Amino acid sequence: MKERFYKRDVISILEFNREDLEYLFDVCDKALRYIDKKLYLLKDKVISLAFFEPSTRTRFSFEVAAKKLGADVISFTSEEASSISKGENLADTIRMLDNYSDLIVIRHRLEGVAKYAAEIAEKPVINAGDGKQHHPTQAMIDLYTVRKLFDTIDGLVYGVLGDLKYGRAATSFIYGLSQFKPKKIYLIAPEALKAREEVLEILKNKGIIYEERNNVEDIIDTIDVLYVTRIQRERFPDPMEYEKVKGSYRVTYELLKRGKKELKVLHPLPKVDEIEYTVDISSYAAYYIQAKYGVPIRMSLLALILGAEFE
Ligand code: NCD
Repeated sequence: MKERFYKRDVISILEFNREDLEYLFDVCDKALRYIDKKLYLLKDKVISLAFFEPSTRTRFSFEVAAKKLGADVISFTSEEASSISKGENLADTIRMLDNYSDLIVIRHRLEGVAKYAAEIAEKPVINAGDGKQHHPTQAMIDLYTVRKLFDTIDGLVYGVLGDLKYGRAATSFIYGLSQFKPKKIYLIAPEALKAREEVLEILKNKGIIYEERNNVEDIIDTIDVLYVTRIQRERFPDPMEYEKVKGSYRVTYELLKRGKKELKVLHPLPKVDEIEYTVDISSYAAYYIQAKYGVPIRMSLLALILGAEFE
């Protein structure tokens, strides 16, 4: 199995079948044992973090993951901080990172940039989120979190609530689920933020049972995992469109109390106002532990791609 990961690009979660993901999660179980240690598995490696779009968790967790494995990291955190601001084109920037490092992690506001970078670079490229569709490592973290919480990803009822139109974390999570056997996926969004046709197509093709809803209130008692996302303000072509939907959904503690006792709320973070703060300190909130799994999942992926193994 490990050869399936070696030197591989990671562009979309759809490129990873169930077996791949389960293997990655098994490796992650091992990586978790070393989470408080410093390892030197990648001591001769340099990892580039090319973040053309803001990020807190994704960038820091990639950096921590690389450093825990003993790799060196070079990075920039915005276009302003790189020669892009002097007019350098993206291809040249990628070529330089390809020269200087063994693996490139890239985030960009435009869809397709990670794939483009992978075509230019000889070294493996990991997509840390591009545009509104793909954020494969986030989906890996999310699925792993479900597996840790419920011991399985299959057979559960999922609600994916929020900006399903522009949200790449939500879209990638749905794509990730489609590699497993969820009992049902509710796609819950205000009319203007409904999932795009191409997402529904994938669910249909894979025979996944799903249902679109405008609100979560009537179905909360059937849901095992409620995946919430913020409205992706920065991706709206028209600011007026954002004004119309802002604040259109909110998950409260009262709402969750009407659901199953074991119900868990996931969120890729950052959250804005879509989850009431009392939920944060309740047993429903799984998003902080989910964020924590960002490090071992990314450690596992870096190790596998660069050919290192945990004992
Ligand atoms: C997400 C992203 O950047 O797509 N954040 C993340 O990586 N955890 C979600 C978001 O920005 O809403």
